[in-house]
Amino acid sequence: MNITIIGTGYVGLVAGACFAKAGHNVISIDKNPEIITHLNNLKLPIFEPNLQKLVNKSFKENRLKFSNSYKEGCKNKIIFICVDTPSKENGKADLTNLKKVLNSLIKYIKPGTILITKSTVPVGTNNFIKEFFKKKISNPAMNLKFCSNPEFLREGSAVKDFLKPERIIIGCDSPAGRNIMKKIYSSLDKNFSKKIIYMSITSAELSKYAANAFLATKISFVNEIAKISDSVGANMHEIKMTLGSDSRIGNQFLDAGLGFGGSCFPKDLKALISLEKKFKLEPSIINSVFELNNSQINYFYAKIKKFYGQSLKNKNICLWGLSFKPNTDDIRESMAIQLVKKLSPKVKNIRLHDPVANNKAETELCLLNNLEFFDDMYSALDNADCLIIATEWEIFSTAKINKLYGLKDRIIFDARNVLDAKQLEKYNIIYKGIGC
Ligand code: UGA
Repeated sequence: MNITIIGTGYVGLVAGACFAKAGHNVISIDKNPEIITHLNNLKLPIFEPNLQKLVNKSFKENRLKFSNSYKEGCKNKIIFICVDTPSKENGKADLTNLKKVLNSLIKYIKPGTILITKSTVPVGTNNFIKEFFKKKISNPAMNLKFCSNPEFLREGSAVKDFLKPERIIIGCDSPAGRNIMKKIYSSLDKNFSKKIIYMSITSAELSKYAANAFLATKISFVNEIAKISDSVGANMHEIKMTLGSDSRIGNQFLDAGLGFGGSCFPKDLKALISLEKKFKLEPSIINSVFELNNSQINYFYAKIKKFYGQSLKNKNICLWGLSFKPNTDDIRESMAIQLVKKLSPKVKNIRLHDPVANNKAETELCLLNNLEFFDDMYSALDNADCLIIATEWEIFSTAKINKLYGLKDRIIFDARNVLDAKQLEKYNIIYKGIGC
């Protein structure tokens, strides 16, 4: 099949590379000429495990092309829209980029095209798109089809998630459109047709927000329980085993920490709150989830402050982990970055290390003058008084004890609960996790 993907961010680039892997001919379109030049030189704008390999192979075999040209993109009658929909100041999703795409399509779109929205878009957007084309192209022979196909991949495991989805949501109001979607996904894996859940366009749009809001709720819930755990002297690892072994609860998204960040949860919660307000509903749960999340940094900071008191200002801190989660260089809405911003004016110096996000973090934090960045995690520990772990990269969980032993105050503040407290305590290293 000949497929066009508009947008070369996490969703668009991964979708394009995976469809090309399945043997389709894919054209990926982006308005930014610089991105397209880089992509044509096989330089990806994002770090994502296994993506480079996949892009290289399909590009060399001529099944994946990158272009700025909507004329070229519209030669194909299957078009996925994967552009970003960031938050506006008022919390509503900003559809500027999506609207630009629609305007660029008008001139070239072919009769019979199916337009599939993969971007996370506010409920009602696909109907808006339908009306838009009805107004702009009045010819009924155009027979355009519309589909909402929200994406559930996670950064850091995007390729794996795309190729092994738990479900594929297809919101489409025409049988012909549903058939095309079934064919596309079955080409990735013949069992995928069993994973498809068909529904109305509106349910598909709301499903995506509901899934993200539920996951965010789980995280804020465990963060609240972790605070109780700290107060009463329980252990979140043990509580997680209790919760996770109940299939009604599920064993994922139960890790207490600094709170959720990234380009999706905060944005999607804000969009859901604004949707509720539009319908005069009270966003009580979602508001609380958001507030709890925003207060988690202060809770963690208070632990550090309580330990050091006034002497905090003389401390040389080592901090590991800057991306919003492991296996990505994405620092958007990263809690680790927010923590550095909060700590920087209160301490003498911060020595920072992230396995891949140092460069992006250095740009973001360039106005703070007491930071030093290190490519090697152990070099960042030199002369440090304490260590803070802010993102749960796997490599941190296997840190060598003899290196940690050199911390002057022999204390670790582990905001992601990745280290083994008992083992550290054997070596007289004080351990402060979240809820353990
Ligand atoms: C999230 C969803 O998980 C995807 O299903 C969805 O497709 C995506 O948003 C999106 O809407 O595009 P993502 O933001 O990439 O994916 O990352 P997650 O793995 O969900 O993590 C989000 C945040 O929650 C991270 O800051 C992470 O550290 C935090 N988190 C996650 C916790 O604090 N505790 C946990 O137990 C799990």
